[in-house]
Amino acid sequence: MPLIAVLPGDGIGPEVTTQARRVLEALNLDLQFEEAPVGGAGYLASGVPLPPETLALAKRADGVLFGAVGDPRFEALERRLRPEAALLALRRELGLFVNLRPATLFPGLEDASPLKPEVVDGLDIVIVRELIGDVYFGEKGRRTTQEGLRQGYDWMSYDEAEVERIAIVGFEMAKRRKRKLCSVDKANVLETSQLWRDVVNEVAVRYPEVALTHMYVDNAAMQLVRRPADFDVIVTGNLFGDILSDQASMCAGSIGMLPSASLADWSGANGMYEPIHGSAPDIAGQGKANPCAAILSAAMLLRHSLGEEACALRIEAAVAKALEAGARTPDLGGSLTTSEMGDAVLSALT
Ligand code: IPM
Ligand code: MG
Repeated sequence: MPLIAVLPGDGIGPEVTTQARRVLEALNLDLQFEEAPVGGAGYLASGVPLPPETLALAKRADGVLFGAVGDPRFEALERRLRPEAALLALRRELGLFVNLRPATLFPGLEDASPLKPEVVDGLDIVIVRELIGDVYFGEKGRRTTQEGLRQGYDWMSYDEAEVERIAIVGFEMAKRRKRKLCSVDKANVLETSQLWRDVVNEVAVRYPEVALTHMYVDNAAMQLVRRPADFDVIVTGNLFGDILSDQASMCAGSIGMLPSASLADWSGANGMYEPIHGSAPDIAGQGKANPCAAILSAAMLLRHSLGEEACALRIEAAVAKALEAGARTPDLGGSLTTSEMGDAVLSALT
């Protein structure tokens, strides 16, 4: 019986994860669920954001359903004790170097995006974000300059093997879609990016069927607002992918709509699935959060880690149907509560 680790985390994490779990349970797939604290909740339970038992559960599970981490109460703690440290450690420990962040516009949500409907029409992007390298995981710290000034530093680097493996995922993804891959970097300024671009070009030789373009990240940010529907697959590093995926979410109407899958390979073993939104402490516990991103993350779990493509499609169709029927949480301009939105998706599940 497949084991799903449920790590609700902080803020709105528990609320949205509850709805995603309800949808998974409704499929009668004979899944086993085990829950564990992570982030601020992990810190409160055992003094560290990623308790050893939580990590062990994630490693043992066939897939991890993750909520969100982040809690202003713990912002002043040393970095390794902050909620976010748990997420970064999980990604690293599970070797999840691939982060797939699809941004699609569900029919009926054209008006939810701050962009004009004709601009977002046809939006269907996958951002392939590298997840365990880059400036996120380089040496970081504080030091004092010769002038006696406090200085912070974070080391940015990628080696060629790290770039090659994520580039391959980008090309493979593009090959299965519209065969357009846009690699995003800042090669005009950063040496890390120049190596990135060189390696992506080397990998491109193996994929003559895919049309590759390169774009500087500042231009990509602009084009994502100007003509988002022209993108197919975007492959980029950890930091740029973090920023561009939040931006892409607004093209899709709301950050409450975007799921993600973090994978160590195509088999999906140990894959982790989370909405790209954070813990949103300002609306936590009020039933205002949109559970769609979490529910769609559960669909990705079924697809990538359990090989249940048909069930994944059923969930995605149910979300589409609920939205088409007008079900909306406040972020989409509606007034349904988190659990009412979950009800709407459940009743649309055929
Ligand atoms: C994300 C989040 C995380 C990140 C934070 C919470 C560490 O913003 O998954 O996009 O920066 O990767
Ligand atoms: Mg982010």
